[in-house]
Amino acid sequence: MASSWKLVVAVIVLIQTRPTRNSCLSGCLCSTQVLDCSNTNFTNIPFIETFRGELYTVLNMSFNFIRTLEENSFTKQYFSVIETLDLSNCDLSEINSFAFRGLGKMINLNLANNSLKGLKDRLFEPLVNLKELYLQGNQLSRIVPVTLSPLRKLIVLDMNYNRLSVIDKETFNSLRDLRELRLKGNAMRDFAPETFSPLESLQSLELQLFGTSKEISSPPSKTGLSSCLCQRITALGWCQGRNVTCFVTCDYSHENNYDGDYRVCSGILNGLSNTEATKNRSLSAFDLSWAFVIIMVVILILIITLIILALVVLEKKIQTGDANTSVIID
Ligand SMILES: *[C@@H]1O[C@H](CO)[C@@H](O)[C@H](O)[C@H]1NC(C)=O
Ligand SMILES: *[C@@H]1O[C@H](CO)[C@@H](O)[C@H](O)[C@H]1NC(C)=O
Ligand SMILES: *[C@@H]1O[C@H](CO)[C@@H](O)[C@H](O)[C@H]1NC(C)=O
Ligand SMILES: *[C@@H]1O[C@H](CO)[C@@H](O)[C@H](O)[C@H]1NC(C)=O
Repeated sequence: MASSWKLVVAVIVLIQTRPTRNSCLSGCLCSTQVLDCSNTNFTNIPFIETFRGELYTVLNMSFNFIRTLEENSFTKQYFSVIETLDLSNCDLSEINSFAFRGLGKMINLNLANNSLKGLKDRLFEPLVNLKELYLQGNQLSRIVPVTLSPLRKLIVLDMNYNRLSVIDKETFNSLRDLRELRLKGNAMRDFAPETFSPLESLQSLELQLFGTSKEISSPPSKTGLSSCLCQRITALGWCQGRNVTCFVTCDYSHENNYDGDYRVCSGILNGLSNTEATKNRSLSAFDLSWAFVIIMVVILILIITLIILALVVLEKKIQTGDANTSVIID
């Protein structure tokens, strides 16, 4: 009785652990090409020796608790044909430089809604075919220019809701195919056209200038306001010139209420250029008239001196002439 019970258990164990190529990971849902491990409380990319990752082009790891993504996270499990990787909402705060090794086929990478403060320089090096990169909802305060340079085929880059205040001039240099760039919900200090100019294929730009969304409650100073509004005008001018559809906000302004603000900055800018112009004009006129007056005065003085000289000479001549005549007469 006891031995037959043991046999049943042994058979069950054998059946459960027998390596089958199509076995799914426990807790995940497997279907053709899609491995959905979302919401499964994983703390790492699962690793099971009998499981072959190369059957799947979509790996969904979203809504887990993977705080650190280790190196070779995907090569270990033979994930080699992944095209879509969803690592959003995973509490990620660190990704090893070599975490994405072996994912050269990847097209879509979602790292949104994590706690990333920075990205390692060489992190994206293997992802030479990536077309969409989602980084929104992190705490990125700086992107080192070299980080994005391997992503030459990138079409969509979403960095909404981060902490970027400055973007280095060379950051987008390699992104010649990029069509959509999202930078809403950041604290961009200014709009530098040279930063965005390498984006030859850009069609859509979302940008938020100055301050974080937290500052909406505290109204900005007058100079801050005019400065941001003027930056916004610079940005919109660039967009118009490049035929890019732009959504540019100063975050403390009420949405869709830029018409009045636009006039404020136009007024300031126009006022500025008018006074500059008049100053320039009046200054040159002033200079010219003074030069004219001085020249005239000099000429006048010269003429008067000449006349006086001529008179003196004439008088002397007359006097000596008289003396001569008188001498002769004498
Ligand atoms: C994940 O953990 C939470 C609480 O820690 C639990 O309620 C939930 O059932 C777990 N989910 C799975 C798929 O194990
Ligand atoms: C991954 O799973 C989440 C939650 O189930 C879902 O919202 C998301 O769309 C999935 N991602 C992909 C790429 O299918
Ligand atoms: C990130 O979180 C926000 C809300 O916190 C949500 O609206 C958004 O859909 C999430 N994005 C992704 C890709 O999960
Ligand atoms: C501007 O872009 C739109 C589409 O984004 C296109 O239809 C239009 O022809 C472009 N105009 C110029 C002048 O390039």
